[in-house]
Amino acid sequence: MCGIFGYIGQKENAAATILNGLKTLEYRGYDSWGIAVGNGRTLDHEKHVGKISQARVSLPLSTFGIGHTRWATHGGVTDANAHPHLSCDAKIALVHNGIVENYQKLRKTLQRNHKITSETDTEIIVHLIEEESKKTKKLDDAVRAAFKKLTGLNAIVVLFPGGQITVAKNGSPLVLGISNKEYFVASDPAALLPHTQKVIFLEDNQLASVGNGGIKVFEAESGKGVKPKVQSLQWEVKQAKLGKFEHFMLKEIFEQPKVIRNIAENYSEQINNLANVIKRARGTFFIGCGTASYAALAGQYLFSRVANVHVNFSIGSEFNYLEHYLNDKSLVIAISQSGETIDVVEPVSNAKKKGAKVVALTNVLGSTLYRLADHKILLGAGPEVAVCATKSFIAMVSILVYLAYEMNGEGQKAKKLLTKAAQNVELMLKDSYLDNIKKLAKKIYQKEHLYIIGRGLSYATSLEATLKLKEVPYIHSEGFAGGELKHGVIALIENGTPTIVFAPKDETHEAIISNAIEIKARGGYIIGIGPENNEAFDYYLPTFDVEDASIITNVVPAQLLAYFLALNKGLEPDKPRNLAKSVTVK
Ligand code: AGP
Repeated sequence: MCGIFGYIGQKENAAATILNGLKTLEYRGYDSWGIAVGNGRTLDHEKHVGKISQARVSLPLSTFGIGHTRWATHGGVTDANAHPHLSCDAKIALVHNGIVENYQKLRKTLQRNHKITSETDTEIIVHLIEEESKKTKKLDDAVRAAFKKLTGLNAIVVLFPGGQITVAKNGSPLVLGISNKEYFVASDPAALLPHTQKVIFLEDNQLASVGNGGIKVFEAESGKGVKPKVQSLQWEVKQAKLGKFEHFMLKEIFEQPKVIRNIAENYSEQINNLANVIKRARGTFFIGCGTASYAALAGQYLFSRVANVHVNFSIGSEFNYLEHYLNDKSLVIAISQSGETIDVVEPVSNAKKKGAKVVALTNVLGSTLYRLADHKILLGAGPEVAVCATKSFIAMVSILVYLAYEMNGEGQKAKKLLTKAAQNVELMLKDSYLDNIKKLAKKIYQKEHLYIIGRGLSYATSLEATLKLKEVPYIHSEGFAGGELKHGVIALIENGTPTIVFAPKDETHEAIISNAIEIKARGGYIIGIGPENNEAFDYYLPTFDVEDASIITNVVPAQLLAYFLALNKGLEPDKPRNLAKSVTVK
C-alpha cells in the first residue's frame, strides 16, 4: 500500500522528478499525496488530499527530496494525515509504508514533549527520530535507533535538510536505483524504469544512507555495513506507459496474447524443473490472494483433471491457520503478481520455518516473495499498472496449464493449447467482438446485482470474473459453483437478474446448462460464455474450445465486460476506489 519515491542528484527539479515518480506509483494508493525537498538548511513541503495524476508542485528548486502517495490505514483522508510528516523543529521529514503496531504506546511517551498534529501512526516515527537525534550527531544512527523501536512491517524514508536521505525496511518493499551520479528510492521497481535499470532491493532489517556520495547499506540491528547486491531490471520503460491506450487495464488485456506465447515458447526448462520438484514433494500447496487465489484454485482443478495429482489449495490469508502439519517434505507454491502481498509473504515465511520448500510464481524480480523462495518462476507479464489484475492472471493460469501437462510429460501438448489460446484471445480483441461486449455492457450496466456460475475448473473462472465485476464497475457480483444453486442461492434470482454462465465443452457442459435453465425459469437473464451457443442463453459471448486452457479464453470476455461496464458508469477503470495494487498491510 502507499507509494514512496525519493531522489538525490544533480538536477535542480527534484520536486518534479519525485512528482512523476509518484504518478507511476499511484496504483499503490491514491487518496492523498505530498512531497518535501531540502535546500541545505531547511525543508519545504506540500501535501494535499486527492489523486496525484492531475497534480502540480509549487516547491522551490532542489536537488533532493522525498514524496508519498497514500492509501489510508490510520487516520482519515486529510491534508494533516497525508505524508510527509515533519519533526517539531521541521528539520526532519518522513514518508512511510506499513503499519507501526505499537504507535499508541510510543505516542503516549512522545506527546509529553512533542506536538503531534495528525492521527497517523507514521508521524510518531519522525518525532522518535527527533528524540534519538538528541543523543547522537550521526543521523543514520538516530534513524536506526528509532526504527528498532517500531513493531510491525514498515518501510520509512527520511529526509534531512543537509542533503541526505536515510531509508529503513522491514517487510514493506523498498528498492534503490542508481544512475549516473543520481540516486532514487521507490516502493516498486517499475517507478525507477524511466531513470535506470540498475537497482538494489533492500532486505528486511536493513537501512541505507543515500547521498551524493552514493549508497551505503547497513544492518539495522548491529549497524554493520553490508555489500549491496546490484541487480538489473528486465523491463523496459515503454512497458509501463499507456501508449495508444486510454487505460492501463485495456492495454494489459491487449498484451495477453504476447504473454501467453512467451510462456508457451520459452518456459519448457523452468516448467520441467518445477514438475520434478513437485514430484519429489510430499504434499503440495497452491496459495494466493484475490486473483492469484483463483489461479491457485484453478491449479488444483488442472492438476486433478490433467495430471491426476492431488494438490492442496488455500487462500493466502487463511493458510496461516492451515499449516500446522507442514514439514520439510512439504512444498508451498505461492502465487503473487507483486510478490509483496503480506497475506502470502507471511504464511510463506512461517512455512519456511517449518522446513517446507517454497516456489514463487511472481511477476516482480527481487520482490520479497521472489527472494524468500527456493524456486522462482517469473510470470514474464511485464509491469502491471492497473489495480485490476488481468495479464498476470492469464500468465499464472498459462503456467499452471503447462505445469499440469508437464507432470504427465505432455508439455508439448500444453504448448500447442497455449499457442491456440493466444490466437483465440487475439480474435476476441477484434472490434467486432468488442462491439458485442460493449452492447451487452450498455444493456446491463445499471444492474445492481449479477451472478456468475461455473462448474469444476470454470468455478475458478467464475470467481475471477466475479472479482473483476466487483472491483472495476462496482457491481455486486457473486460467483458460485453451479451445483450450489439449489442449496440456497437461487432464492436471489428475480425477473431480469443477469447471470453469466461459463459453459465450456467439457464434462461440466450438460450440468451447467441445466443450471442455466433453472435460473431462466425464475426469470434470470442468461449470458452464456462458451464455444457453443444455447437456446437457454439470452445473450451469447462466443469463446473457443481449447480444452483445459479454456479458462484462459473464457475469462477474457469477463475482463472486457468489467472494463466496458465501468466506462458506461463513468468510472476510472485503472484506479478503483478503496483498492491498491499491492496489499502490503494485513
Ligand atoms: C485483483 O484484480 C486485485 N488487484 C487483487 O485481488 C490482487 O489479485 C490481490 O491483491 C493479490 O495481489 P498479488 O497477486 O500481487 O499478490
